[in-house]
Amino acid sequence: MSSKKQELRIGVIGCGHWGPNHVRVFSQLDRTRVVACADLQQERLDDMRRRFPRVTTTTDYRDLLNDSSIDAVVVATPTRTHAAIAADAMNAGKHVLVEKPLCMTADEANHLGYLADRLGVVLMVGHVFLFNNGIRKLRGLIEEGEIGDVHYLDAVRTNLGPIRGDVNALFDLGTHDISIFNYLLDATPVSVSATGSCITQEAVEDVCFVTLRYPGNTLAHIHVSWLNPRKVRTLTVVGQRKMAHWDDIDPADTLRLYDKGLDQPPNYDSFGDFRYLLRHADVRSLAMRQIEPLLNQAAAFADWVLTGIPYGPGARDGIAVARVLDAAMRSMQQGGVECLVDGNADMLCQAASVDATSIPTSAPHLAGKAGRQNQRPPSMTRKV
Ligand SMILES: NC(=O)c1ccc[n+]([C@@H]2O[C@H](COP(=O)([O-])OP(=O)(O)OC[C@H]3O[C@@H](n4cnc5c(N)ncnc54)[C@H](O)[C@@H]3O)[C@@H](O)[C@H]2O)c1
Repeated sequence: MSSKKQELRIGVIGCGHWGPNHVRVFSQLDRTRVVACADLQQERLDDMRRRFPRVTTTTDYRDLLNDSSIDAVVVATPTRTHAAIAADAMNAGKHVLVEKPLCMTADEANHLGYLADRLGVVLMVGHVFLFNNGIRKLRGLIEEGEIGDVHYLDAVRTNLGPIRGDVNALFDLGTHDISIFNYLLDATPVSVSATGSCITQEAVEDVCFVTLRYPGNTLAHIHVSWLNPRKVRTLTVVGQRKMAHWDDIDPADTLRLYDKGLDQPPNYDSFGDFRYLLRHADVRSLAMRQIEPLLNQAAAFADWVLTGIPYGPGARDGIAVARVLDAAMRSMQQGGVECLVDGNADMLCQAASVDATSIPTSAPHLAGKAGRQNQRPPSMTRKV
């Protein structure tokens, strides 16, 4: 599409629990217009027409792909259908925003990344927490050295329901935490060990405990469950200088920075005398603008398509998360043994040349270490 075009026409595929939120946020932006929705269920479409009277509806998503006036589609169908629908959409020349997780396996993710690259379309993954201002602020604290070297991270994401039948709690909920860890640490894990328990359904883990080992021996832990009395969305980061705690459901006190840790005493005579001093200094609650992350994400997708400049998590990020999920499932099947995360996302880009200098440092998701920018995939540098 022409880079001069100012309005992006969007179709949303999948109008269950989450799809209508995409229609709502894209309708709020002045440079996008949602023109059509698709869902297999007529009653979902009836509901969409009531809520968004200007949007046309269809039970066959291919009607959206055959409509040349539609520039981009959002895929908000069950995860098992993502790979096929996203591939169809890209093959039809559409830019695509796929809900998380990108797909079911790393092989599928690699194929989608390859297609986006070959066809020159935007493929963005709905890792929505990378658009959460608390998580962004946390990354800023790490980049600025405020927290020091990160020793470990610990994420908890629990609630009573909603229970899914198509994927387990790790795919449903833990995907968010993997994407957050990768973003905060600017790295992907080397190995994963995971255990899970199938309580309400056969072969679908309702609760999972996952440990990821990042380069430098930084540990990250995830506890996810949809069978828990309390809704919790927290992340603790323990660094060598300071500690931080993010609580996504506490709008008044979302991010706290603790000047707590261990100091070495100035003098000690022998190893026997050696003691760390506990430091209990200030605790600061950091103020931030509360903007709906899904709206931030929609704006980034629109900007990426309209300008050709990558503004969000693309194929590489989706592949990186899919590889961790693959390794976690292998680990679960082997009773929790530590499994290596296969390959790395650079393989996708081997055949293509990447001009890292063309990647802007001002892009919100990309601002940060040069190392990470140099790892951007070609699909994120291409003009579209
Ligand atoms: N980012 C987030 O925080 C977040 C939150 C919830 C869900 N999600 C993701 O959004 C996706 C959808 O989740 P949900 O909770 O809305 O699921 P859902 O089951 O409520 O809705 C899925 C809808 O897709 C429709 N559908 C299935 N196959 C289709 C096809 N071939 N063509 C058209 N429509 C089809 C179904 O009829 C259903 O209405 C999942 O990938 C999920 O992981 C993300």
